[in-house]
Amino acid sequence: MNVAVIGAQWGDEGKGKIVDYLATDAQIIVRFSGGANAGHTIVRGDEQFALHLVPSGVLYPDKRVILGTGMVIDPEALFAELGMLAERGIDWEGRVFISDRAHIVLPRYRELDKSMEAGRRRPIGTTGRGIGVAYAMKSSRDGMRLADLYDDERMENLEPGDVEFIKAWRDRLSPLSVDLTSFLAAHRNTYSLFEGAQGALLDLDSGTYPFVSSGMSGAGGAASQGGIGPRRLDKVLGVFKAYSTRVGNGPFPTEFDPDSQSGLCQFIRDTGREYGVTTGRPRRCGYLDLVALRYACLANSIDSLVLTHLDVYDTLETFEACVAYKIRGKLVEHFPASVRDLSDAEPVLRTFRGWKRSLKEVREYDELPREARDYVNFIEEYTETAIDIVSVGYDRRDTIVRKSPWTRY
Ligand code: GDP
Ligand code: IMO
Ligand code: MG
Repeated sequence: MNVAVIGAQWGDEGKGKIVDYLATDAQIIVRFSGGANAGHTIVRGDEQFALHLVPSGVLYPDKRVILGTGMVIDPEALFAELGMLAERGIDWEGRVFISDRAHIVLPRYRELDKSMEAGRRRPIGTTGRGIGVAYAMKSSRDGMRLADLYDDERMENLEPGDVEFIKAWRDRLSPLSVDLTSFLAAHRNTYSLFEGAQGALLDLDSGTYPFVSSGMSGAGGAASQGGIGPRRLDKVLGVFKAYSTRVGNGPFPTEFDPDSQSGLCQFIRDTGREYGVTTGRPRRCGYLDLVALRYACLANSIDSLVLTHLDVYDTLETFEACVAYKIRGKLVEHFPASVRDLSDAEPVLRTFRGWKRSLKEVREYDELPREARDYVNFIEEYTETAIDIVSVGYDRRDTIVRKSPWTRY
């Protein structure tokens, strides 16, 4: 059975925590998009891991994890991460693989990423990891894949510094290389997870272009870039927070007002630890945007939602969520493509009552306070999508499962 886990907002929804949690029952975990721009946090008791490239199943000694075809891989960052894992007692050798169709991020891509940003009138706010350049090189058919590392003809297209770099890393990279499609076909009867990076609204096609990342972070990427066809994907899970965050620039209709809501913003940022895992940047915060979430569900055929960070609202008397936009005086209930429209969108907010108690110890859905269940019910009705998992803390134990994604419908 194949289950995809994608972000349903602008990234950092808690995908790492959820993939780590669900990986207990999986044998193979494939990360299908992005590169070292991602930062996935896993907390187990006193231990915390921040993963950028390696799929979030790696902490289990018996799982095989694969960096998929849709990824762009910086070898220096990868081996630094694998080194960190080994130092912390995670024996990864023999169970971390890379799709031979995945692309390499060359050092000059990082420099080019930064200089392109510096030249933009409205910078995107990239992570500076060379991600956009790597995907541009891939699209222009000038990229280098794992499969090309010993191909002298392909090397002729490169600059001397690139060749040197590739020669320095290829003997370490190539032993990890697999033909992903054959590998997954050979393990057809296992439970496999397809871990997304970024989120639906940072997807190159469905996101808030041009303020997006450059990969296919939506469910379509899980199939094509995860090495299986779309009809082999059994279920799509969309992870979202009780509120919204965004890192970098771009429209964000529900963003807290820096004048009137700065206290609330700082409270959410501190309580939810909303600082970038990759760049340390404070994340922009705002209320949940249900218009955007419903769009993410539709654009990605999300079968069920995973609500995270519900505990962050524990102490609030009331809170709000956006149910429509007003754009230049007109009521709009769909998520517009135009950045101009989104920037002009004023959220129409609905108020919810808080529960004023800690959710951290709650493990059964029925034990959640009525007010929390009311919020869950409203989101389900609005998005017409079931919320099957609720996360009430960062530790893997702080998770309420209403319905396991491994059960077939
Ligand atoms: P990812 O990129 O989607 O994997 O998410 P990040 O790891 O970048 O950011 C999510 C942050 O929230 C991390 O610090 C997680 O440890 C934390 N987290 C995940 N789920 C929850 C939750 O339900 N409640 C709280 N309070 N924190 C959570
Ligand atoms: P995870 O997997 C949040 C954002 C950047 C920037 C834009 C483009 O942890 O959810 P890039 O370097 O990719 O060209 O930057 O995308 N971004 C993320 N924001 N979480 C991420 O990953 C992100 N990966 C990229 O902040 O706005
Ligand atoms: Mg993250």
